[in-house]
Amino acid sequence: MSAKAILPAPAPALFPDRATRTRIEDRLTRDLADAGERIGQGSVMPTLDRAALREELARFDFEAPQPLDELLSWTLGKLEHGVVHMNHPRYFGLFNPAANFPSQCADRIAGSFNPQLASSGSSPAPVEIEAHVIRAMARRAGMPEDSAGHFTTSGSEANYTALVCALTRAEPRFDAEGARAFAGPVAMYTSRECQPAWFKIVHQAGIGRDALRLVGTDGHGRMDMAALSKAIEADRVRGIVPVLISPTAGTTGAGMIDPLSECARIARERGIWYHVDAAWGGAALVSQKLRGLLAGIELADSVTIDAHKWFATTMGCGMFITRHPQVLSDVFRVSAEFMPSSVTQLDPYLNTVQWSRRFLGLRLFLSLAAAGWSGYAVHVERAAQVTELVKERLAACGWTVANDSRLAVLCVTPPAGYPAIRDIARRVLESGRAWVAVSKYEGREVLRVCVTHGETSIADVDELVAALEATA
Ligand SMILES: Cc1ncc(COP(=O)(O)O)c(C=O)c1O
Repeated sequence: MSAKAILPAPAPALFPDRATRTRIEDRLTRDLADAGERIGQGSVMPTLDRAALREELARFDFEAPQPLDELLSWTLGKLEHGVVHMNHPRYFGLFNPAANFPSQCADRIAGSFNPQLASSGSSPAPVEIEAHVIRAMARRAGMPEDSAGHFTTSGSEANYTALVCALTRAEPRFDAEGARAFAGPVAMYTSRECQPAWFKIVHQAGIGRDALRLVGTDGHGRMDMAALSKAIEADRVRGIVPVLISPTAGTTGAGMIDPLSECARIARERGIWYHVDAAWGGAALVSQKLRGLLAGIELADSVTIDAHKWFATTMGCGMFITRHPQVLSDVFRVSAEFMPSSVTQLDPYLNTVQWSRRFLGLRLFLSLAAAGWSGYAVHVERAAQVTELVKERLAACGWTVANDSRLAVLCVTPPAGYPAIRDIARRVLESGRAWVAVSKYEGREVLRVCVTHGETSIADVDELVAALEATA
């Protein structure tokens, strides 16, 4: 006769009962909303004393358990005072959005079900939902119906995926032998205005940082096509193998769009993979007014678009889309008996960098479904309009706009007699009234103002301009 098995009760702090969860969740929802309102009225910049925080952290020795509701209040306080607020309407910053509400709901759902998206066998509904959104985005970009792809944790992961696909298609023995399978060293081409993660990507992909060609620009922040052709020819003569051309559609610094159709032509003529890094600018596809700027994206072998940038979902929610789904399967194929299914074209673990995967795509699915393309067009066009307003206001004060982008980034320089650009940025940040960045455009230092918040108002624009002018 076996003894009766006795188990301890589940750890109550980790798995509280339903009444406790509901009470804590309701309070958290209210507290978050209150904090959101206070943030809009307060400083964009962190105000917290880091030394004091370290002292507080030192008291967390994780020995005695503490009540979760107190811990949540503590955490909210630290975040309210301890981050640059991307959810402040005067954060005119890097491409970090104030997260839209449907995507926050998606995070809540994904966190609760915690589905494992490695396989379609474990998570048929999430895998189908993600694949549906990817197909819709491919269609929107004008790519073929049988295009495929997946959600990534970042634009960098998507760009990395593009390079590995390009290498694998260029030389099938790359899978077994790596870079030494090529007849010579390989090279990839982007412009000197590219997002610098490419340096890490070539390193990570094993082709080395010397493989990255930063093609010169045309004086307006766009890749110079004559320089691109010249660089490719010069490499070929030296026995170097060109594998990837990656124009940027919406450069990080200035929102410029490289000549996409021309890059496509050069790539096609030379048999090189053509990848468009539209991490931020890809959102222009939602707008009938702006999507023409991306003409040529439809010819891409692959595209990167980040939903956690201009689509304003929570981070990180990138997308990799390709017209060659088979190459993805070639690159990421693997066999694992323990996995619940192996549907080659569908199972994410057979087509992506990741294995365990969070349900990232729900963020964009819910946002797109709730807003429709037209709702997103309002969001994107509004940002472009706010940018125009900033431009007008600053021009009226004698500032010069250096870049000619129709997307939501301005690169500006002050009138003569103002402090140096770095000093202006520093003083604005110190004031807490707004957040702006220092950047380089065509080799010159500029102040970068980017509209990333969906609710920035005219009063916010006036406050930004006042903060900039106050530095004079
Ligand atoms: C054009 C471009 N590509 C790629 C990236 C990298 O994206 P992520 O930060 O999601 O890795 C960025 C980031 O700002 C970007 O602007």
